[in-house]
Amino acid sequence: SDAPRVLSGIQPTADSFHLGNYLGALRQWVALQDTHDAFYCVVDLHAITVEHDPAALRRRTRVSAAQLLAMGVDPERSTLFVQSHVPEHAELAWVLSCLTGFGEASRMTQFKDKAAKQGSSAASVGLFTYPILQAADILLYSPEPGEDERLFRVPVGEDQRQHVELTRDLAGRFNHRFGPTFVAPEAYIPQGAAKITDLQEPGSKMSKSASSPQGIVDVLEEPGPMRKKIMRAVTDTGSEVRFDEENKAGVSNLLRIHAALSGATVPELEARYEGSGYGQFKKDLAELLAETFTPIRERTLKLLDDEDALDRILAHGATRAGEVARRTMDTVRDRVGF
Ligand code: ADP
Ligand code: NA
Repeated sequence: SDAPRVLSGIQPTADSFHLGNYLGALRQWVALQDTHDAFYCVVDLHAITVEHDPAALRRRTRVSAAQLLAMGVDPERSTLFVQSHVPEHAELAWVLSCLTGFGEASRMTQFKDKAAKQGSSAASVGLFTYPILQAADILLYSPEPGEDERLFRVPVGEDQRQHVELTRDLAGRFNHRFGPTFVAPEAYIPQGAAKITDLQEPGSKMSKSASSPQGIVDVLEEPGPMRKKIMRAVTDTGSEVRFDEENKAGVSNLLRIHAALSGATVPELEARYEGSGYGQFKKDLAELLAETFTPIRERTLKLLDDEDALDRILAHGATRAGEVARRTMDTVRDRVGF
């Protein structure tokens, strides 16, 4: 395929993705398939960098893959696979870790944040080297360098930019030491990716680890509880549906969600709800969420019902990903002297 290549991964660390994952990343994964040769990976190796339960990991890996399919990731057009099914990820990570400076790895701010939450002596070495595994995830699917060098894009949120920088540095270092092997990836913030904040604490990001159940909307949630959460979302003492990040963070977040789901612009929404207060706006938003997520929930449950079919889809993805990864690793092994 002549289309630019794109690679992205998501951790299977919850029983459902949330609205932030959907509007900030996964919806773009679906859209990017039209213009890119896409590799999408459920990164279960990353999920064991913190203490985990094996049964939960196995369940979440499947439910994550099923949700991606239900959202519209097409396993015929794109390569959808589970990271641990392709052993080259861990192998390339080792090679790259030998090219990474200790000081360089120590500067990764996400490790500092995550380690601080656990107490730094409790944090694993795997959590520390996580960005190197991420670099391997990306570079395994690098197009081969050549005159018609193809674009290689990695859609990420702002918080992952530093990891893509590390990946670029490692690609350059490997190429310099051992000969041209990798195309350096570009961090790519896809059009329409929206940052969604917590419904109860509109100043903070909606997050599976930090948000309370009332602050987060799960993709697989039933419409009833979803509606309640939206109706109880924190707003302000005013009544005007108006976008004002500073003074009306809650309403602004709800406007951002509505606009992203309905395709209406924020000014259009402000005009539509002029004088009608928060109640009608929230009711309509809850309806919009139910319309968006009900079919995704139903398709996910159906996919989970047929274990063999889901296994076949993931095996097909692992075969396709494995072919590319093995080709890359053959070159790497040869260049490194194995
Ligand atoms: P969480 O923050 O819930 O732990 P992850 O860090 O696993 O979620 O993020 C998975 C993907 O979803 C990333 O691409 C991230 O940028 C995106 N994402 C997570 N939370 C949000 C949010 N609140 N708004 C927009 N995008 C988000
Ligand atoms: Na996170």
